[in-house]
Amino acid sequence: MQKTILITGGAGFIGSHVVRRFVNRYPEYRIVNLDALTYAGNLENLKDIENAPNYQFVKGDITDGDFIQKLFQEYHFDGVLHLAAESHVDRSISNPMEFIMTNIVGTVNLLNTAREIWKDDYPGKRFYHISTDEVYGSLGATGFFTETTSYDPQSPYSASKASSDHLVRAYHNTYGLPVVISNCSNNYGPNQFPEKLIPLAINNIKNNKPIPIYGKGENIRDWLYVEDHARAIDLIFHDGKQGETYNIGGNNEWTNIALIRTLCKVMDIKLEREPGTSEQLITFVKDRAGHDLRYAIDSSRLMNELGWKPSLQFEEGIEKTVNWYLENQEWLENIVNGTYENYYREMYGNR
Ligand code: NAD
Ligand code: TYD
Repeated sequence: MQKTILITGGAGFIGSHVVRRFVNRYPEYRIVNLDALTYAGNLENLKDIENAPNYQFVKGDITDGDFIQKLFQEYHFDGVLHLAAESHVDRSISNPMEFIMTNIVGTVNLLNTAREIWKDDYPGKRFYHISTDEVYGSLGATGFFTETTSYDPQSPYSASKASSDHLVRAYHNTYGLPVVISNCSNNYGPNQFPEKLIPLAINNIKNNKPIPIYGKGENIRDWLYVEDHARAIDLIFHDGKQGETYNIGGNNEWTNIALIRTLCKVMDIKLEREPGTSEQLITFVKDRAGHDLRYAIDSSRLMNELGWKPSLQFEEGIEKTVNWYLENQEWLENIVNGTYENYYREMYGNR
């Protein structure tokens, strides 16, 4: 029997990799990509699959409860993979309300509607909420986040994601909604919006612009290649246990400064510049307010129970990423000059 799956935020960075994977891997599913096409949503990310017979794009906002209800009534979704979110910590510091609306209110709209439409007829249904390791707060020099680490979010972004995680669990505990949650570390790879550290640095190096490093660059993140995340999401959606949480991480910790120095070396080679040229662009700037020191994930549960592990070494992943950005300069330029926003109108008109 055909299943209809809703993927929210499918025009964004991680969502586009998940949509592509599901469309290509599961021709028996009808994949509906719901995205509001905010500044971070870009249909160019999905050009290669936009005409696939099992794929459909719907423009819409998860904060609009009536719209979400109509969408569920129309499509009778069997499953939801919820990735739509405001995702950038710096933006959450300057404008927290958008994060409250999309990440909390939007998630509750989806939960309420799934509950209402599925009417307690839960067999075969699944609501999968995709979240971040940032909900656990900040680590000191040692230790790892596990699935039982207490929540201690520090930024408006992580607080909004923590709130949505709690609500998803509450709908499971209270109404029996069949949910599963995952919390992942920092992703990198093709199609990431150039406000995040790695694509921002690639873009600035290419254009000989300063690479801003917050504070002393000693903050640590655990980096995972985006396709490894998409593969974990596929596994958890299909095989994860109801009501459970899975941590996903790269086992790949880098201080920001060490990561950027490595990236600079790769860029010097790719751009055929003298060794050390790109490093000269490193510029230490004012630290981010409330900057979390270290994130590190223990993904042994996902590895032991579902047999997942990261497939790429960081050196390989960063080279693939740099190659992609250099080969897709138009993608970056379209974002920087705003052209990507016209793509939807050209493709779909002003609906
Ligand atoms: P992104 O910012 O690249 O994409 C978010 C997408 O959601 C965009 O396409 C945007 O248009 C859409 N969206 C935003 N508000 C919407 C709304 N109100 N209605 C409908 N669509 C809306 O984000 P990303 O980096 O791909 O992250 C995707 C998910 O994964 C988020 O839930 C994020 O919290 C989580 N996550 C991200 C990372 C990371 O490193 N990027 C790590 C762990 C978890
Ligand atoms: P980012 O990519 O924004 O992800 P997150 O804040 O979710 O971890 O930032 C990654 C790290 O890089 C984080 O410690 C902040 C730092 N950073 C910089 O030093 N300079 C920058 O220009 C950006 C965007 C981030």
